[in-house]
Amino acid sequence: MKRIAAEKAVEYIEDGMIVGLGTGSTIKYAIKKLGELVSEGLQIQGIPTSLQTKKIAKQENIPLTTLDEHPVIDITIDGADEVDSNLNLIKGGGGALTREKIVAYHSKIEIIVVDETKVVKSLGIDFPLPVEVVKFGWKATKKSLEEFGCNVELRTIMNEPYITDNGNYILDCEFDRIENPEELEREINSIPGVVENGLFIGLVDDVIVGSKRGIITLGKEIASS
Ligand code: A5P
Repeated sequence: MKRIAAEKAVEYIEDGMIVGLGTGSTIKYAIKKLGELVSEGLQIQGIPTSLQTKKIAKQENIPLTTLDEHPVIDITIDGADEVDSNLNLIKGGGGALTREKIVAYHSKIEIIVVDETKVVKSLGIDFPLPVEVVKFGWKATKKSLEEFGCNVELRTIMNEPYITDNGNYILDCEFDRIENPEELEREINSIPGVVENGLFIGLVDDVIVGSKRGIITLGKEIASS
């Protein structure tokens, strides 16, 4: 399901495009497909959203560039942890939310690829909201986040704090459900020490869902010229 969604999204990529490359297990299929197309002559430049994606893209011989060199991205393909019917998302299960959000913001077209298990009625029901915070004062930042009524855990890996590509921590905030994602996104980002949160609001043009019955798209039709 992940593969069919990812490979469908690659059909929107054309010669000469600057392509944002998301992070995660779904997007890996898109990067592999892009690698094949590049070896057949497709000319693109990719902007990876994480060190992990940079490594995979290099293995696939996809030419890379940076957002500093190309501040306008033609199209980005990325995954998500949860998608609602307004095309709002929770992202950051892989810890790359800040770079992913910067890249999404500067993309003319943002396409999300998911399997059907990621489509939810309400954000936050199944997946905790990841928040990237600076290390300094993180316990105080955690306390401020708890005031939103969620249970907050420092993300760890092998009993050590998980460190993002930007050198920060991730606090995973478990809500029963997120009633007003637009407001929550703004309020969380106004806490000093918060770098970015994993709510992606109004940034997405299309969501391609791989399901057992095939592909379903949730967004507007994207013209492929
Ligand atoms: C990375 O930080 C995330 O935002 C991923 O895009 C998201 O977790 C989807 O990952 P999978 O495709 O591995 O489920």
